[in-house]
Amino acid sequence: MVPISVLVSGRGSNLEAILDAVDKKCITKGQVKVVISNKPGSSGLDIAKKHKVPGITIDDKGFPKKSWEYDQKTVTALKSYGITAGDGLVLMAGYFRILSDEFIEAFRHRIMNVHPALLPAFPGLEAQKQALDHGTKVAGCTVHFAEKTVDAGPIILQASVPVGEEDTVESLSARILREEHRIYPEAVRLFTEGKLKVEGRRVHVLP
Ligand code: GRF
Repeated sequence: MVPISVLVSGRGSNLEAILDAVDKKCITKGQVKVVISNKPGSSGLDIAKKHKVPGITIDDKGFPKKSWEYDQKTVTALKSYGITAGDGLVLMAGYFRILSDEFIEAFRHRIMNVHPALLPAFPGLEAQKQALDHGTKVAGCTVHFAEKTVDAGPIILQASVPVGEEDTVESLSARILREEHRIYPEAVRLFTEGKLKVEGRRVHVLP
């Protein structure tokens, strides 16, 4: 069983999709041991509670957006819930912090993120708005391993959606989010079943 932790900052809909996948036994080889929020009172913590998963807050007030000093608190908490760099999996799910190089190095290819764009297009903030403003006809989302450069790690799964004439940031974001909720749990399933093999930038999905 792969011990999993989910890092959240707010809404937590991807967290919910993952917990639902565990409840429905779509993910059978991984278990979410703890949800960690960098913001007190985030709705991600309510979702954890609803699913009877421990939820804790490590308040990042006063810390810079990227800080090893802060991340060390997270690593200590992970350890206390049995999640180590040896056998654990850390999921960023709407986690609005930049992980320190030290954290990423320690959990190399064991931290995943979901981004609401078809990377390498539109990294960073407001990805859906970037796609609309650019006039793309296709948008989508990406699940990837975290690397020192934000939104740039090896790509695990992607899904595309069409962009319509009438689309707004809200309507496009909602269409993309439905796909995030599908591919993020699938990526977790593949990882926990030992079916992902990283070779350079390429992530091979084993049969
Ligand atoms: C998602 O769109 C995700 O791609 C981005 O932040 C949003 C988080 O949503 N990184 P939620 O908290 O999972 O509902």
